[in-house]
Amino acid sequence: MGDDLRLVDIPISHIFPDRELPGDIYLHIAGKFIKYKNQGDTIPLQKYELFIFKRVKSLYISSDMRESFVDYYHKARSAAGSGAGERAGKKASNIVRIREEVKLDLFDFVTRDIEAGADDKGESLIQKTKETVAVIMEDVVVQDFIGQLCNYGQGMVDHSMNVANLSSFLALNIGYGQFKLLETIFLGGLLHDYGKTRIKEEYLQDPDSDLFKDAMIQHAELGRNSLILDSDFSDEVLRIIMEHHERHDGKGYPKGIRGGKIFDLTKIVSFANSFDNLVLSGTGALPVRQRKALELLSKDSGKRFDPKILDKCLRTMDSIVAK
Ligand SMILES: [Fe+2]
Ligand SMILES: [Fe+2]
Repeated sequence: MGDDLRLVDIPISHIFPDRELPGDIYLHIAGKFIKYKNQGDTIPLQKYELFIFKRVKSLYISSDMRESFVDYYHKARSAAGSGAGERAGKKASNIVRIREEVKLDLFDFVTRDIEAGADDKGESLIQKTKETVAVIMEDVVVQDFIGQLCNYGQGMVDHSMNVANLSSFLALNIGYGQFKLLETIFLGGLLHDYGKTRIKEEYLQDPDSDLFKDAMIQHAELGRNSLILDSDFSDEVLRIIMEHHERHDGKGYPKGIRGGKIFDLTKIVSFANSFDNLVLSGTGALPVRQRKALELLSKDSGKRFDPKILDKCLRTMDSIVAK
């Protein structure tokens, strides 16, 4: 490498898969810069995903190419808006879409499904939830994880966002006003099913097989274990992921721990998770499904759910779901 070459970092979120690069790209490996791609090459989607999985946050470019990369970034963004993202293939377009639309998608659950029934207090708490979540979503690491959920399927990312948003909203209502706690519950909600994205392909072939069922039972632990290795998420976030299928009566999994041993924030995420699953699988108009879901959840008091937390969640939902 010549002496005149000065490298600067560029966030991986500013590089797009399967798109011609405007300049050379370098990786920083074991203290050394190594040329990875030449100008005009593309980074295949599979490799790009691997970077995301390995939590590579930056690539490197020559400082005098910075302007070209800024230009490339703006062109790629507007191409995504005009549908070129779709041409790059479904997965690539999902990643592009996440960058472009995630802020708009964020509050689908809150705005579309809930706001209609909210009173003034409910509306101001929804607003506060939106603001808090928007700050958390600025983090490129969070966006990368959403990209991974997106790759697993639209259903996964929708469900995860619903659970994250709803859990944050419920926590705020219940009195967890501190940003750090809201961030913890949002991330726990967002990544509660992350383990499903790490199940080996061969286990997923047949949903009726024992292999598939075992893998699903292990998803909470698998999620926690892979995030311990690949991320800096706090113990509390990991705990929510690990415990989200535990039950108050001790009949949950993977450990079968009882109510008092389950983290309070996990209990809120468990409620939001069950609510979203019930609403999705229910029949009829949305408010009907939501009401029915709340009725079913109330029957699980002391069984699946801690009566005190359940009561608070139900009351909050009752005040915002359309009658
Ligand atoms: Fe789950
Ligand atoms: Fe879930």
